[in-house]
Amino acid sequence: MIKHLKVPESEAQNAKDFLDSIGALNTDFLPSKENGSILWPLNFDVEGELVELEGIPATKVSRDYRRKLPKKLRDITPRAFDIFGEIAIIKLPEEIHKFSEPIAMALIQSNPNVTKVALDLGVKGPYRIRELKLIGGESGFVTTHKENGLKFKLDISKVYFSPRLAMERQRLSRLVVPEERILDAFAGAAPFSITLAKSGGKVTAVDANPETEIWAEENFNLNFIPKSDYEFICSKIEDTLENLNAYDRIIMNNPTKSLDYVNLLTPLVRRGGVIHFYCILPRDQTDVLLSTFGPEFELTFMREVHPYSPTTSMMVFDMKKN
Ligand SMILES: C[S@@+](CC[C@H](N)C(=O)[O-])C[C@H]1O[C@@H](n2cnc3c(N)ncnc32)[C@H](O)[C@@H]1O
Repeated sequence: MIKHLKVPESEAQNAKDFLDSIGALNTDFLPSKENGSILWPLNFDVEGELVELEGIPATKVSRDYRRKLPKKLRDITPRAFDIFGEIAIIKLPEEIHKFSEPIAMALIQSNPNVTKVALDLGVKGPYRIRELKLIGGESGFVTTHKENGLKFKLDISKVYFSPRLAMERQRLSRLVVPEERILDAFAGAAPFSITLAKSGGKVTAVDANPETEIWAEENFNLNFIPKSDYEFICSKIEDTLENLNAYDRIIMNNPTKSLDYVNLLTPLVRRGGVIHFYCILPRDQTDVLLSTFGPEFELTFMREVHPYSPTTSMMVFDMKKN
């Protein structure tokens, strides 16, 4: 089965261009049509509505990396993986860790842009750093990832980054009004901040991990964001409140902990402003969240960004302050 991104027909071309630009479009298969929607076949998971289909092969030869593996291994190896720059990042069940080397070779041989492969051992600790083990290619986890026409360079073993948030960053960039004031409260290497600054926002980016400051500054420069359009504060958000103001838009993207910061950050959004709130929730428990925000906030948008575990999802809620 092949995962497909389902989009309305009116957005089909945009979605195709976007998937193509990040290497997610699986050209071994043809797109499918379904009741006014187009389903684009994927190389790896992206945000949005994903649907599993048999897939219509575009040619007789498939580029699924698993076809390079022995049949017994092929059947128990996951098809999906993430790509960050030239690094493929894959989660493997413990029992097939011993086959990491041939799996890494198959991934490198099947994906022209991939030069190294890392085993994903999970995102850990307060800085949300991904524990990685190199299983193919040369050592080192610094690479440059292209997304929405921007470049993000960082050490993926020291700073959080998720290519799966590309569509979410693109969505927010379309909402920004030039000159509006934005707080990116858990900024990481600043991918949200930079994407929104490109749309004309004036950004304050905050992150507690000292490594993020190095890479955020690098990325503001790499993407030609002038110093007048951003500031980066390396601190826990709760320790720098006196340096913050009122904002038109606040991004709270620390999904395992965001709920703890609602009371702290809601006073910082001005009336008419919006908080983009990312959190992990059991599916069907969105009511809990709405009551946490209180009556002055109105839910203007919500969606599942991606599944997180068999019972939970990473969700985004746009909460407008009235
Ligand atoms: C899930 S990551 C999101 C990073 C970024 N928004 C992105 O999309 O790539 C959460 C970030 O919050 C930072 N963080 C954790 N606790 C924090 C705190 N109390 N104050 C500020 N940043 C914090 C971590 O270092 C991490 O970079």
